[in-house]
Amino acid sequence: MTNAARSAEAAHTESVVITRLRKSYKRVSGSDATYAIDGISFDVPKGKFVTLLGPSGCGKTTTLRCVAGLEQAQEGRIDMGGRIVFDAAENRYVRPEDRPIAMVPQSYGIWPHMTVIDNAAFPLRYGRNRSRSKDVRPRALQMLEQVGLAGIADRWATQLSGGQQQRLAFARALLCEPEVLLLDEPLSNLDAKLRAQLRQELRSFQEQFGVTALYVTHDQSEALALSDTVIVMNQGRIEQVDEPQRIYHSPRTSFVADFIGSANLFAVQHVSRPCRDGSVLAGTSIGPVRCGNSTDGPDPRNGDSGFVCVRPENVQVQTREGGRSELADNQFHGTVVSSEFLGDRVELVIRCGGEVSLTAFARADFGCRPGQDIALRLDPATTTYLAS
Ligand SMILES: Nc1ncnc2c1ncn2[C@@H]1O[C@H](COP(=O)(O)OP(=O)(O)OP(=O)(O)O)[C@@H](O)[C@H]1O
Ligand SMILES: [Mg+2]
Repeated sequence: MTNAARSAEAAHTESVVITRLRKSYKRVSGSDATYAIDGISFDVPKGKFVTLLGPSGCGKTTTLRCVAGLEQAQEGRIDMGGRIVFDAAENRYVRPEDRPIAMVPQSYGIWPHMTVIDNAAFPLRYGRNRSRSKDVRPRALQMLEQVGLAGIADRWATQLSGGQQQRLAFARALLCEPEVLLLDEPLSNLDAKLRAQLRQELRSFQEQFGVTALYVTHDQSEALALSDTVIVMNQGRIEQVDEPQRIYHSPRTSFVADFIGSANLFAVQHVSRPCRDGSVLAGTSIGPVRCGNSTDGPDPRNGDSGFVCVRPENVQVQTREGGRSELADNQFHGTVVSSEFLGDRVELVIRCGGEVSLTAFARADFGCRPGQDIALRLDPATTTYLAS
């Protein structure tokens, strides 16, 4: 599909359409060019919560700043609400203040020399959609009410706690009436408990106001808990775009599997073509492993290498009392290396064959000791083959 067709089709359902965006901070000179973002394309549907997730330096903030108009890419195009706000080829660029956005940065951007209500009212006095002066205070107060700050509206902003500052930043952003709310790690300065509480508040404000959100974080649990769609980035590229459940249960690449949650990954020397039920037989150093959990990736070909991926909660363990027993389908012998009681579960490290170590979560009453023989089963339904 051409760029024009893609953006025309998306105009009704998408708030933001990013097409092949590429940006380097260095002057591009031969092989020296390193791209902070390297040809990424994605859509943010209207009213949805979409998160850019990835390790430090993968290009999340650069992407967000390009959407805001604070950075300009060397290649690509950005449509917002059906309007082109950036097109490198056409030399088109709309300034940040003329884009229908509001941004909540990591540091909240609260003005210390103003009161809470003056901070909140700022976009009503000076923004794109200014209010009549008699409406400013009532509108700002109404919003402060919604975020639980009306009782302290006349305090100095410096007298707020971290959580209150975050709520104020969110209130001020919503008063801009943005089409798209851009949030760059807005919870990262808060302690863990407050972070968990505020992320739920943030999601419910976003739903209540029906605003589209593009959120940046390197915290996978935040991304999984908050988002309709998670975009996993690595070194300026997109690894996977999916709903949180699929990101966790059906990672498309070994990078995603490893970055999200904890995953057991071990090498596949050669894989068979998929059987009729979609499963493949992966030849590994612990023997053939049937992998039945499909990803959206291309079908493997006979002989491809890759990885087996299985989450620790999906490794089923059994003690082998009374000596060696027959192995069932996808079952393997192992030896317990370590066993840790963690309250709600026992975490085991099991050596399997010479070189593969697997982590397994067993029930809290599972009793075993290091050196003990064990049988473990990898349920094909939750075991994934990933191409290398
Ligand atoms: N102003 C800049 N000048 C030069 N290089 C930059 C600049 N800003 C970012 N970079 C580089 O671009 C790459 C992407 O940076 P970016 O800030 O987008 O990453 P990030 O995913 O937001 O990381 P973090 O999680 O640490 O915030 C990094 O290699 C970074 O060093
Ligand atoms: Mg960043």
